[in-house]
Amino acid sequence: MAKVLLGFMGAGKTTVAGYLTDNFLDMDTIIEEKVGMSITDFFAEYGEAAFRKLESETLQELMKIDGDIIISTGGGVVISEKNRELLRQNRKYNVLLAASFEVLYERIKNDKVYQRPLFLNNSKEDFHGIFERRMMLYEGLSDLIINVDNRTPEEIARIIKCM
Ligand code: S3P
Repeated sequence: MAKVLLGFMGAGKTTVAGYLTDNFLDMDTIIEEKVGMSITDFFAEYGEAAFRKLESETLQELMKIDGDIIISTGGGVVISEKNRELLRQNRKYNVLLAASFEVLYERIKNDKVYQRPLFLNNSKEDFHGIFERRMMLYEGLSDLIINVDNRTPEEIARIIKCM
């Protein structure tokens, strides 16, 4: 089965996946390898719709893999109904890394390595709206919800390993 890490940007999905296994599958990294450029550049050149198409294709490919795998998703994977349908079938093994908006906003703002396109292209108020809508979707798809505000990635990984 696939343990799928869900959550908003900055929640630590990729970092936590790295504490679970060396061989996790990171959707954003896979997409970057497919297109040969960073997500930021891809968004700027081809737009969000093209990115979402690739994201859906990648999710479908990964969910077909047999065996115990860890998938780290991009925060927007839940906006497509087709993706949600796939993820719904895996609900028992989906883990939501939940954090408060202010904590995530500060992390995203201070991330000098990866400036997320949706952060750059939206006001704080609009970004908050995206967060609220997404949280409802993540919650409906995850049997395990971990509040990550005051937990280290090691602690979060330990909880997930007990699943
Ligand atoms: C996105 C989240 C990003 C990346 C892209 C879009 C989103 O991944 O897939 O910038 O729509 O929430 P992270 O959740 O790893 O930041």
